[in-house]
Amino acid sequence: MSQPQIQGLLASEWTAERGKKWRDQLPNMEATLSAIDAPLIAALRLDRPLRIAEIGCGGGSTALEIIRQAPAGTSVHGYDISPDLVELARTRVGADGGISFQVVDMGTAPAPAEPYDRLLSRFGIMFFEDPEKAFSNLASWLAPGGRFAFAVWGPPAHNPWMSSFRDVALQVLDVPAPDPDAPGPFRYGGGAKLLALLDTAGFGDLEMRDWRGMLPLGGGLSAPDAVEFAFRAFSVGDLLAEAGEPASSEVRRLLTERYAVHERDGAVRMDARVHVVTGCRPV
Ligand SMILES: C[S@@+](CC[C@H](N)C(=O)[O-])C[C@H]1O[C@@H](n2cnc3c(N)ncnc32)[C@H](O)[C@@H]1O
Repeated sequence: MSQPQIQGLLASEWTAERGKKWRDQLPNMEATLSAIDAPLIAALRLDRPLRIAEIGCGGGSTALEIIRQAPAGTSVHGYDISPDLVELARTRVGADGGISFQVVDMGTAPAPAEPYDRLLSRFGIMFFEDPEKAFSNLASWLAPGGRFAFAVWGPPAHNPWMSSFRDVALQVLDVPAPDPDAPGPFRYGGGAKLLALLDTAGFGDLEMRDWRGMLPLGGGLSAPDAVEFAFRAFSVGDLLAEAGEPASSEVRRLLTERYAVHERDGAVRMDARVHVVTGCRPV
């Protein structure tokens, strides 16, 4: 049997295949993750008209939610490295204005002339190739006194909605553990590494609060449909496509069994834990 590798998920991959994959699964992905918007947006404190930048905005659903909730006069600029996702996000902008999307590598892009009042990200800050440089650069995107809120995943064991696919695949295939320091969804699962990076970058008043809840796989799919969603959406699905049969069918069978345990009223819901990290740029 070949030895497939899970590589770190580099920002450069989001410009190409990974971005296309996310776009192709967008309605299901966004429906899975929408519960995170409430704690993230609350942490931003939208207490007056603000200039807001979103890092790794993907297809734009969080930016659209912010503009729905924020005081009139607020502007939201969504930045993402994937041209496919930005193109799609632009199609969702209404006539009211106040929102725009642009292709930008937020790991390296120089700060704009007028810095922002708020910076946020829903799962978009774990992929920088050089996080130290990226976070100190991002500090200059924020006006003195400005506030940020970033959502990142907690540890894999507390996010079975995502990690159980790998756990099940391990029963059939040799799936090496991802490098915990490499770009990827669980890079800041422990929290401390991210807080240290933000501190070194010059952010202050750092705080980390956890959101815990159940996420609906694919937005509310039955076990067999959730399995198909997982095969299309997660990197382990790529490994199984490479491995072919009989591994692929066996993992499908085992994963359907696993998800079925968590299906209620036709929807698989599984535990998730998210770190919501907040802070400011000191005055
Ligand atoms: C896990 S997705 C989250 C997308 C969106 N925030 C959401 O929650 O639906 C990560 C996003 O970060 C973007 N991304 C990764 N590296 C980036 C970078 N260096 N600059 C800007 N965007 C980046 C990806 O293209 C992708 O859209």
